Amino acid sequence: MSQTELSAEEVAAQDRRDFLFLTTGAAGTVAAAAAVWPLIDQMNPSADVLALASIEVDVSDVAVGTQLTVEWLGKPVFIRRRTPEEIDEARKVPLSALVDPLARNDNLPPDAPATDENRALDKGGEWLVQIGVCTHLGCVPLGNRAGDFDGWFCPCHGSHYDSAGRIRKGPAPRNLQIPVARFVDDKTIKLG
Ligand code: FES
Repeated sequence: MSQTELSAEEVAAQDRRDFLFLTTGAAGTVAAAAAVWPLIDQMNPSADVLALASIEVDVSDVAVGTQLTVEWLGKPVFIRRRTPEEIDEARKVPLSALVDPLARNDNLPPDAPATDENRALDKGGEWLVQIGVCTHLGCVPLGNRAGDFDGWFCPCHGSHYDSAGRIRKGPAPRNLQIPVARFVDDKTIKLG
């Protein structure tokens, strides 16, 4: 028997180890899901929430100029209620100034341009919902008008996003992703 071949006993032992690994992994997933609950106390515990494929978020307490972060499908989602200044700033940026010309909005066609109107959730642009994961190597950027463009800043390697979550400077190649999202009533945003 060569060194790369395993005996029947060794194969059985390997299978047992794999099973234990899978079991541990499954337990870890349940624990992670449980840990999410304190973060999403503003959500309605609907069947959708329990399934975690889609969730509804009560945004009635989100003041203008602040951001709510919820965890969805294992990722942070930034829900920001922007000030008129943030909206103005984002809307006057010419597309030619953008690193990534695409909206990266899962609610629109993949080739939609990265105008602020194509990034915001509502027509007026007050609400911006985006996955809070830097498109460089996956860190969670800092918010609240951080960085050189008054949006989000990822200190890991210095990526600056503007107030529409578009990459403007640094190594990140793409704008922050916008997930499937919509208002289901005047105070509730559904993700997914
Ligand atoms: S992970 Fe954000 S800049 Fe590198």
